[in-house]
Amino acid sequence: MRENIVLTGFMGTGKSSVGRKLSEMLQMDFLDTDEEIEKQHGLIGEIFLNKGEQFFRDCEGKIAKQVSSLSNTVVATGGGLMINIENANYLSSSGRVFCLKASLDEIISRLDKGEGESVRPLLQSEDKVATMKSLLDKRNTHYEKFEQVLTDGKSLDEVAEEIYKRVTG
Ligand code: S3P
Repeated sequence: MRENIVLTGFMGTGKSSVGRKLSEMLQMDFLDTDEEIEKQHGLIGEIFLNKGEQFFRDCEGKIAKQVSSLSNTVVATGGGLMINIENANYLSSSGRVFCLKASLDEIISRLDKGEGESVRPLLQSEDKVATMKSLLDKRNTHYEKFEQVLTDGKSLDEVAEEIYKRVTG
């Protein structure tokens, strides 16, 4: 039995794509917390709109508990899930956590290119860059608690390779 690998980090850092790739490389299962929530409740944009952010955070709490009883799974988390201390404790106890880190410029350019697909309700404002910056500032102390993986200038495959080396090396 292998422990889980959990990926956290800000929106646009590549958690889902890297996680999927890594799960193939390590022949582990893959789970994306946002996808699980969408399977049960519909699109994240609509959940925020119709039921509010707190409802979405409650869903994340439930998923975090469920995931903590899994093993051999690469888990890509939504960017806010591990900011909650209880969630972070559940997932940290189930395996090794990596935080994908990118500079604000890199995040902006990735989100502009549409990398990482879905609508991000937290960034639906007039001044997206200012919103991103203030959210990142608020969250950095939380993200910094986890093992860091620098992603600037790296392809998604290179990031997956880097984590692969750390867990197998
Ligand atoms: C969120 C990040 C999103 C998604 C939701 C909230 C956040 O996931 O869970 O929109 O609070 O940072 P990604 O990090 O995959 O974009």
